[in-house]
Amino acid sequence: MNCGTNRLHIRPIRMDDKASIFSYRSDPQTNKYLSSIPKSVDDIAKFITNSSPIINIPGTWFQLAIIERTTNQLIGDIGIHFLNSDPENKQVEIGYTLHKDFHGKGYATEALWAVIDYLFNSLDKHRITASIDPENLKSITLIERLGFRKEAHFVEGLFFHGKWVDDLVYAMLAKEWKTKKRQVC
Ligand SMILES: CC(C)(COP(=O)(O)OP(=O)(O)OC[C@H]1O[C@@H](n2cnc3c(N)ncnc32)[C@H](O)[C@@H]1OP(=O)(O)O)[C@@H](O)C(=O)NCCC(=O)NCCS
Repeated sequence: MNCGTNRLHIRPIRMDDKASIFSYRSDPQTNKYLSSIPKSVDDIAKFITNSSPIINIPGTWFQLAIIERTTNQLIGDIGIHFLNSDPENKQVEIGYTLHKDFHGKGYATEALWAVIDYLFNSLDKHRITASIDPENLKSITLIERLGFRKEAHFVEGLFFHGKWVDDLVYAMLAKEWKTKKRQVC
């Protein structure tokens, strides 16, 4: 996938992105709701190695880098989990992280809009989900701004950083996305 918006270029992650990704993913405060915080650039190298090199393979995560066009700087990443629980490979889960210096500019909304559009219109997916900590208000605002519906609130459904925590599941169907007008890719 190579895609973009006026302000952003979105492309598959590469091994030479590891230092840039470490620079924002290693911030424990900004990323306190993520499942793991890398301790070294090597942790990011393993993360990139463990990502699928090919998009749309059931049971794998495919990772995308978000690049700000004006500076050519890598400012965040988006992960796409192709679910193997679905024999038709029509359902995916998404995850996203933005460098804190680039929060509050609409970049995550814009990048996700492009990726969601690609998943529904080019890869013909049926349903996209996102799993969010109920305390992660920025992420909830973002996903609701994109038009996702809250489908579930699992109480203490995840064991996370040494304790049981709640988990919200948000979802969007292809037929719901088609009612939206904006096209970015
Ligand atoms: C979740 C996360 C990506 C949200 O980032 P964000 O900056 O709030 O989201 P966006 O980039 O879409 O920016 C939206 C904000 O920019 C503002 N904005 C400014 N200029 C804008 C523009 N041109 N277009 C749209 N929005 C704009 C919006 O009003 C909005 O502000 P608000 O939330 O105060 O209303 C970010 O908090 C993050 O990376 N967190 C750490 C990782 C994480 O928790 N990931 C989610 C795991 S589930």
